[in-house]
Amino acid sequence: MEKINHGKIKPLIYKYLEILQSLGYTHLSFPRTLKKETEQSIEASKTNKLSDLSSSLNTSYQKITPKEKVDQELNLLKKKVENCQYCQHLVAFRTQTVFGSGNPLSKLMFVGEAPGAEEDQQGEPFVGPAGQLLTKMIKAMGLSRDQVYIANVLKCRPDIPKGQKGNRKPTPEEMATCLPYLLSQIRLINPKVIVALGATAYEGLTGKIGIKISEVRGKFIDFNGAFLIATYHPSYLLHNPSLANKRKVWEDMLAVMSKLQMPISEKQKNYFLS
Ligand code: URA
Repeated sequence: MEKINHGKIKPLIYKYLEILQSLGYTHLSFPRTLKKETEQSIEASKTNKLSDLSSSLNTSYQKITPKEKVDQELNLLKKKVENCQYCQHLVAFRTQTVFGSGNPLSKLMFVGEAPGAEEDQQGEPFVGPAGQLLTKMIKAMGLSRDQVYIANVLKCRPDIPKGQKGNRKPTPEEMATCLPYLLSQIRLINPKVIVALGATAYEGLTGKIGIKISEVRGKFIDFNGAFLIATYHPSYLLHNPSLANKRKVWEDMLAVMSKLQMPISEKQKNYFLS
């Protein structure tokens, strides 16, 4: 339909009304049915607009859950990590970046130092031998990997010379460069407790280089409003599997469980005592 030009039509209507007036007309009447139809169509269009508005509110605001919101933001951050080019030597070496996995609303977050060979291949943290032990620890706490969040300070596997096997520790510089990504993850996930797995992860998180894990483990410190606790790295336990070491790590996990007000059974209390 052609658009009404109000500027042009107004003088014509006045002219028409003047003509009617000059002919003796004093009132204009519209058939009742037409008025009703007009009112109904105005009401209908108002209702439609309201229902359009409410359905758009439903889809764009009311239906998005807190988990979906954090997921969306984590996905944006993940994309940034995937495109990160800061450490050229790591970019050249990596198969892929390893962002993190688990429940984005978890109150418990585990942080390791960096992906190893298996993690670099699979794109998921802690999936190698150390990861299998971490999974056992999480299960012993009565949880599953899907209920916690797992990430590393470094998102790329530290490079090693060609032909060599194994993994190397990330350097303080590499960790400082990558730390903003982990801090953003922590801000979005907002865990109550963060467990630093090993001295290097603790150093990366706190910037306190040269600490002794035996001196800092088992003590909660404030970390941007969360409780940070360090424990031995699962790979340390794999190489030093004494009952005493297992019990130390388990006592750290019991401390985490009570900080999170999780139920602790008698059986759980007594793990690794004998
Ligand atoms: N060690 C880590 O610190 N992180 C991993 O993801 C795997 C092994």
